[in-house]
Amino acid sequence: MYADNSAPAAPRPAVTVPRLRQMKADGERIASLTAYDAGFARTLDAAGIDAVLVGDSLGMVVQGHGSTLPVTVEDIVYHTACVSRGLRKALLIADMPFQSYATPEHAIASATPMLARGRASMVKLEGAGPLLESIRFLAERDIPVCAHLGLTPQSVLRLGGYKVQGREEAAAARLRADARAVRDAGADLLVLECVPSALAAEITQDLDIPTIGIGAGADCDGQILVLHDLLGLNSGHRRPRFVKDFLAEGGSIEGAIKAYVRAVKNREFPTAEHGYEA
Ligand code: KIV
Repeated sequence: MYADNSAPAAPRPAVTVPRLRQMKADGERIASLTAYDAGFARTLDAAGIDAVLVGDSLGMVVQGHGSTLPVTVEDIVYHTACVSRGLRKALLIADMPFQSYATPEHAIASATPMLARGRASMVKLEGAGPLLESIRFLAERDIPVCAHLGLTPQSVLRLGGYKVQGREEAAAARLRADARAVRDAGADLLVLECVPSALAAEITQDLDIPTIGIGAGADCDGQILVLHDLLGLNSGHRRPRFVKDFLAEGGSIEGAIKAYVRAVKNREFPTAEHGYEA
């Protein structure tokens, strides 16, 4: 009777590693969140999240530790397998725990069960310098790597706390060089955490791989937040300035995640108030 002439929405393609690079080339923002179980993973996937990270933040938000250091490879494999059962389209990234990639041999032994049993499509590891060898070793053996620079929480003992990185010119120059070095070693994605917004923008412009920011301003290729932060569950800690409680805006868990995806895609989150100056 009444034909609906509007074109049906194109089905969302599964997010693959090459697709992330295409999204950068097309100027499409990558919306990413952490998850630790199948139920939330299903909700994130249905809301249009592009990439889900099983972060070692699980040590703090799930296990109740004061840092990410106690998390084990087996913890990550278990939670990655749980999350994988809830995903259909989103790319699954597993976080490599403290010292589980200190040498290339250790890195491949840790990463393999994350892909084979956890069904991740990528692993994430923190740092550059001596760890470039591990990135190269994994990438050359077809294990996609997401690097992580800036505030690297596994370095909390050396850094003396969770602080913005790259504010002084020497530190900014080191970060610029490290970003190129992880790309050259074969990383396909780069998380930039707590760095001045202008520096993150510069690194994003400079690289052909996508950057995902958290406390790194509005000009990265994508954004990530810890799920618990987005839902306003801050477990008694002071809320960092880059966090926004989307539950207040979305009205429900599904609504909050959809509001986050929409805000990232439309470049409405983060804004200048969520970033740091040099
Ligand atoms: O462990 C984690 O959740 C992370 C994100 C904050 C990027 O590394």
